[in-house]
Amino acid sequence: MDTMRWNGESLELIDQTKLPVEVKFEQCKNYIQVAEAIKGMVVRGAPAIGITAAYGIVLAAKEAIQMDSRSFYAHMEKAIQELGSTRPTAVNLFWAIKKMQAKLDQCKGQANSEIVKELEREAQAIHKDDLRMNENIGSYGNELVPHQARILTHCNAGGLATAGYGTALGVIRAAHEASKEIKVWVDETRPLLQGSRLTAFELHQDKIDATLIADNMAGYIMQQGLVDLIVVGADRIAANGDVANKIGTYSLAVLAKEHDIPFYVAAPTSTIDMELESGKYIPIEERDKDEVRFVYEQQIAPKEIKVYNPAFDVTPNNLITAIITEKGVCRAPYTDTLGKLFEE
Ligand code: MRU
Repeated sequence: MDTMRWNGESLELIDQTKLPVEVKFEQCKNYIQVAEAIKGMVVRGAPAIGITAAYGIVLAAKEAIQMDSRSFYAHMEKAIQELGSTRPTAVNLFWAIKKMQAKLDQCKGQANSEIVKELEREAQAIHKDDLRMNENIGSYGNELVPHQARILTHCNAGGLATAGYGTALGVIRAAHEASKEIKVWVDETRPLLQGSRLTAFELHQDKIDATLIADNMAGYIMQQGLVDLIVVGADRIAANGDVANKIGTYSLAVLAKEHDIPFYVAAPTSTIDMELESGKYIPIEERDKDEVRFVYEQQIAPKEIKVYNPAFDVTPNNLITAIITEKGVCRAPYTDTLGKLFEE
């Protein structure tokens, strides 16, 4: 199933807020609709929002095709600024925007119609490359998965969070394709339930043996000896290997350490932010308090109760067994091993 489809005129996004109950595509015809879709989590997951923003920039250029050069660039600047202010944590968003901006700068002096074509090609390349990166992450990650492994994952780092195949779910898919008879524990992932709604949906569709648990059950099943490894995705990895990912990831990493369970992070190099020395500089998004007071329309807490709703946490590098990228598997000291990925 496609997370997103580009048809040359508009971007179709599978509406992830409706899954798994309804499989419905939302059409974005302009960059404002794209920015709204990212903010509203119609599309989510670090690589997916990067690709979506890239297409948003193409739509912005199409909207401005008839403008004079000055107005065209002013419009593009506004669009880039708007798309860049949708969600702060996942660095893939800024990585993709930077690539599109570089292409735009390269095109200076060309006709608007030519610029649109170049931007479209760039967005499509970002889209296609992400799929290839996930397949490589899967094949490197598969080497770390023992036969009959019981794997725990958190949130959704699957096809829906990427161009397809997934990062953490890419590792799981590759192990399944290698006939390893794996079993997967799926954390439901409160407050927005990306685990139960999206990961459970993807694994069920692929006929991978999956069992859903509420987040607070993870420690118990680790204590019972029922987890052989944990694999999660990432929203931003600092140069020292600290990892920002969906809230709850850090607790799992601490539990994994206590129970001597390998804790893996699977992410493309577009998720690594070499400009940030450590995780303490990663901006953590705080979302609407009603996401905790309500489950969809159902109120589950007093409306006036105080709520704290950080969407991500940071797992320190010392709790991470390895980081699986499309270029290979990195282990501590991460400043060296991650740094080597960017040497060329
Ligand atoms: O708030 P979300 O659903 O965008 O958060 C997603 C995650 O935390 C994923 O684990 C991460 O983006 C990796 S996706 C390959």
